[in-house]
Amino acid sequence: MQAHLGPANKDARKILYEDPELGFCILAHVHLGVANSQPHDHGPSWAVYGQVAGETEMIEWKEVSPGRVQKLRQYCLRPGQAVVYHQGDIHSPRREGETRLLRVEGVNMDNVGRRRFSPVDPA
Ligand SMILES: [Fe+2]
Repeated sequence: MQAHLGPANKDARKILYEDPELGFCILAHVHLGVANSQPHDHGPSWAVYGQVAGETEMIEWKEVSPGRVQKLRQYCLRPGQAVVYHQGDIHSPRREGETRLLRVEGVNMDNVGRRRFSPVDPA
């Protein structure tokens, strides 16, 4: 774990393993400063976000009209916590400082488009 998510790794997205048969990927993510994502899903893929260091403020959304979303819930992911987002689950992570995550994707999202959404009301 130290080799992939320790201080030497500064990669925002690093694939540690891609299964040749099933296609899922295990990734290390390092965000060194403030990092905010627009609400998005992962298209046909699920994803598990596992927090290793720092904190991620996560918002889950529901689509209320094409491309527009409303906030469902908000919570903080702390080290040791993991959450699964199923196909089509809309979410947006926000980081106020350095974070390190272990993520698993059902398919390599480098090759797949993700839908992005705009909040009806600002978060
Ligand atoms: Fe995501």
